[in-house]
Amino acid sequence: MARPAGARLAMRRATVRRVGYVIECRDITVRRGSRHLLDHVTWCVGEGERWVVLGPNGAGKTTLLLIAATRLFPTSGTVDVLGERLGATDLAELRPLVGWASSALGGDIPPAESVRNVVMTGAYAVTGRWNEEYAEPDLRRCDTMLCDWGLTELAQRTFGTLSEGERKRALIARALMSNPEVLLLDEPGAGLDLAGREDLVTRMGALASDPGAPTQVVITHHVEEIPPGFTHALLLRSGQAIAQGEIADVITDERLSACFGLPLAVRQEGGRFHARRAHA
Ligand SMILES: Nc1ncnc2c1ncn2[C@@H]1O[C@H](COP(=O)(O)OP(=O)(O)O)[C@@H](O)[C@H]1O
Ligand SMILES: [Mg+2]
Repeated sequence: MARPAGARLAMRRATVRRVGYVIECRDITVRRGSRHLLDHVTWCVGEGERWVVLGPNGAGKTTLLLIAATRLFPTSGTVDVLGERLGATDLAELRPLVGWASSALGGDIPPAESVRNVVMTGAYAVTGRWNEEYAEPDLRRCDTMLCDWGLTELAQRTFGTLSEGERKRALIARALMSNPEVLLLDEPGAGLDLAGREDLVTRMGALASDPGAPTQVVITHHVEEIPPGFTHALLLRSGQAIAQGEIADVITDERLSACFGLPLAVRQEGGRFHARRAHA
């Protein structure tokens, strides 16, 4: 199976540096029947930025991430990922540069697949292991990913036997396996217990502080799940981007309350956020 050649990859990295944006959505709308899942959203993610996307259920978060992951095209507007215009580029080349993990993807992974293979096949952004030939650097990177995400002891276990937290970590390790330019995570904290959430936030915080790490976008419902070191936030409500920018300017009482439709008080402490209902 063909992998993007090193030269091509270097060229794309240079392109991103020139254009400045890793993800550039301009005035995008996604319509299904008479509904607008996304309504004239403009959102640009620069290289090295780490974004959290917040919003209530049905706000359009997953739809936006699917577009950034090149899995969905908007009804109107333009999308450039790593300087490549969606609709005018070879997605097979682009996708290995975009690491994407969601519970939806977890459903595509055969439960009998070993954890090692789930991570390894991420090198090619495919599920199920076929006839790829893995080179020594791939094997080494796979071991590093397994170690970074606390999966070394579980490498021979089957994906279907993992706990929710272990499964989430395996999907993130897999998304990072191809050494992507951008990492997109859809609700990585959903369904985790407190220990699982704290473990995940700590590992994601470590990734956020790694200068060699890709640009990151994480969707969540809970400000408590924002890893330390995240730089920017986008608030979505009813398909519209109601606020975006540097995290301290966006995660405020007023803006978060408008986003979730109830009075909220936010606190920031030690790089983490906490929110609760505000009482008059
Ligand atoms: N194919 C579709 N047809 C109609 N509505 C859809 C379709 N896909 C998603 N939706 C609806 O669009 C809205 C936005 O969905 P989604 O992006 O998954 O929101 P979020 O991830 O913020 O919860 C939801 O109300 C969802 O039910
Ligand atoms: Mg969603």
